[in-house]
Amino acid sequence: MSGSATWRSHHCGDLRAQHAGESVRLCGWVANRRDHGGVSFVDLRDRYGLIQLITDEDCATEVREALLRLHPEYVIQVEGTVRLRGGNVNPDRKTGEVEVVVTSIQVLNRADRLPFEIQEDLDVPEDLRFQYRYLDLRRPSVFKNFELRSLANLAIRQSMHAEGFIEVETPLLTRSTPEGARDYLVPSRVRPGAWYALPQSPQLFKQLSMVGGVDKYYQIARCLRDEDLRSDRQPEFTQLDMEMSFVEEDEVLAVIEGLMGNLYEALDAEAPSAPFERMTWEESVRRFSTDKPDLRNPLEVTELAEVAGDLGFVVYDGVLEKGGWVRGITLPGGAGLSRKQIDSIEQAAKDAGAGGAAWCKVGEEGPTGPLSRFLKEASGQTFLDALGAQAGDLVVTIADRPRRAMVALDAVRRKMASLMDLVQGPDRLVWITEFPLFEEDDEGKVFPAHHPFTAPVTEDIPALQAGQKSGIRSRAYDLVLNGVELGSGSVRIHDKVLQESVFSALGLAPEIVKDRFQFLLEAFRFGAPPHAGFAIGLDRLYALMFGADSIRDVIAFPKTSTATCPLTQAPAPVDSSQLTDLGLQATEPSN
Ligand code: AMO
Repeated sequence: MSGSATWRSHHCGDLRAQHAGESVRLCGWVANRRDHGGVSFVDLRDRYGLIQLITDEDCATEVREALLRLHPEYVIQVEGTVRLRGGNVNPDRKTGEVEVVVTSIQVLNRADRLPFEIQEDLDVPEDLRFQYRYLDLRRPSVFKNFELRSLANLAIRQSMHAEGFIEVETPLLTRSTPEGARDYLVPSRVRPGAWYALPQSPQLFKQLSMVGGVDKYYQIARCLRDEDLRSDRQPEFTQLDMEMSFVEEDEVLAVIEGLMGNLYEALDAEAPSAPFERMTWEESVRRFSTDKPDLRNPLEVTELAEVAGDLGFVVYDGVLEKGGWVRGITLPGGAGLSRKQIDSIEQAAKDAGAGGAAWCKVGEEGPTGPLSRFLKEASGQTFLDALGAQAGDLVVTIADRPRRAMVALDAVRRKMASLMDLVQGPDRLVWITEFPLFEEDDEGKVFPAHHPFTAPVTEDIPALQAGQKSGIRSRAYDLVLNGVELGSGSVRIHDKVLQESVFSALGLAPEIVKDRFQFLLEAFRFGAPPHAGFAIGLDRLYALMFGADSIRDVIAFPKTSTATCPLTQAPAPVDSSQLTDLGLQATEPSN
């Protein structure tokens, strides 16, 4: 037996033919037991693999009886001798050439009947898996993602250190760091009535670390956001967060491209070739109707304002009059789709918020379908020509307010591609640059497209300072992989006056700015360097890299779509004495 380890001499998964003849001591979980006459087999499992244990007529009676008393998931320690399995080699298992003839067994802990069996191919409902995540983790295919995640985090740290970045840990109990979600709040006991906000990101601290001369900061940082959850969002998630001083966009992008290459290599995947493709936000929205284009989808959107007004179609005319969009997508070969399939495209547009979609099929004898009656004249041919539509194609158009039309066209484009199986080929990474500085919601409220610390494009600063809001470009950039936003960043404002003008454009009164961001504005008074940075959502990246269906599969203890922890049942009520200590009173929840 090797080394000074007392519990075990080897891991179960480590035994090979070369160990034949050795005495070993192993610990693990009973995966299953099979009895054949006088011979019994147990598969013993640990993190490293499975090994077959065996007792036969030659073993002591008490050992054979002890083995027969084992049940699934008992934790045991065994001693025995490794021997070759001869003709019974199991080629599917790394340890398949050997087995351990047991000489002693100690039960370290029993296990009750499990809520589900620990089996790879068992289809267990997700809520049950997450309620008993520690059992779920015993399945190698589930565990594998966490081994990969650890390896990937290590590769990130090595890559960032090699580039001269240092990891700085920033506080969790802090002031609000706005990133567009609600804050999770923590009441203070020592200052009743005062609250910490958990960080939506380390944004302000990383900027302050630049003022502190850190020069190159990174952190594998936990972020907390109280927002509506979707399959690619969790209330707490992890970012690779970074910031650099005295740089322009290109240098930040180059660091991230290098990092992505190193990460793919560390995971034995083919590294994406750098530099990645780049596209301005304006181009992305114009061609793909989204700022997160999946470039594997070949379909593009056509602007139809010039030609749609000549058709005599009142819906188009009404929308165009109000400054809305009329845009369409041509699906080559789409005339072959069934009515049901076309209805599903229209439904996708409606689900995305549009009133509907006007479509036609193009045939040798001209167009057919609802839109066709407006396409009889020459203006109709001009319209179809603008769309590049030919016989055999399907044309779907959306007419609506710009924001709604954009979302609907994106949905239509994706639906069309999926119906014709058009999304093919290698992964496509693309940088989307020059986002607008501000966005406006349907009520006319202005909010930052990225966050309020993002610098405007230099040429647009005079317009901003003259009070203009729409059309101001920012120095923000996103990294998009196959239509998923992996990360965002920007060149920051480092000038107090410019920062104040952005706050004011956002409608923040000076007293509110003073209350919330005084510490930042003050730091800008004491020599803030120009700086820029980026953050990658690691859960999203890892889900894509590891081929997981959801980000929950790469988070060890994930939360549900209602932000609850199925395992601990958090959030949960607390003792009234704890509330009293905090100077708080609970009221009955109103339903
Ligand atoms: P942003 O808010 O765009 O930028 O976040 C960066 C990336 O984090 C991931 N992400 C999420 N992942 C899982 N669950 C969520 N709820 C969630 N929210 C965001 C996304 C996203 O692209 N401070 C800025 C970065 C910067 O400017 O440097 C920031 O946090 O992949």
